[in-house]
Amino acid sequence: MATCKFTDSAADFLPARLSLPQLRTAVQTCHGCDLYCHATQAVFGEGKRGSTIMFVGEQPGDKEDLAGKPFVGPSGQLLDRTMEQAGIDRTQAYVTNAVKHFKFELRGKRRIHSKPSARQIAACRPWLEAEFKVVQPKLIVCLGATAAQSLLGPAFRITKERGKPIDDPKWGRLIATVHPSSVLRAPDAAAREQAAADFAKDLKVAAVELSRLR
Ligand code: URA
Ligand code: SF4
Repeated sequence: MATCKFTDSAADFLPARLSLPQLRTAVQTCHGCDLYCHATQAVFGEGKRGSTIMFVGEQPGDKEDLAGKPFVGPSGQLLDRTMEQAGIDRTQAYVTNAVKHFKFELRGKRRIHSKPSARQIAACRPWLEAEFKVVQPKLIVCLGATAAQSLLGPAFRITKERGKPIDDPKWGRLIATVHPSSVLRAPDAAAREQAAADFAKDLKVAAVELSRLR
């Protein structure tokens, strides 16, 4: 197999002028880490410049890798339903991921999600920073530990801090919660129901924050 060459930072591939269309084109040329070698395509964020709320997930999954759009698979469906329950309109939100290429292991023909490393997350962060600069959201929602640690550093603990609005010097107003896939992975129906309710509660806190910030 040919070796996969990469530079260790997406910064080497950012366009000179930051706009969402330019970023969306440039991300397909990114060799900032090894993940581009195996994925179908980069999956960039979706939504408008000036969206007031920005959701950050982990990385595209199998469905997103094929579709080229974030959160279109099972986690995305749960996210959509929960946003609706919380009164957040997805068409008014900017939805993206901490890492733009799908990382997986092959099990037979199935591609099983694999967690991005700290190095891959750091390499990909310039895309997220550029999205943040262009979109200028008033509130960020981190979905899960990868997103929270990309933005807030490795010491951040979702279990302790979930659902609490934070003021970050770099990212501004921010709320972290679990990743929707953790709700889908709950061991039984009762646990799933509880996890879904807790997730919805955190998104309702985000909706209240947003109404205060507007
Ligand atoms: N999980 C994520 O974190 N992001 C997606 O886009 C899909 C699933
Ligand atoms: Fe570049 Fe991010 Fe893809 Fe790595 S995952 S190649 S840093 S876009």
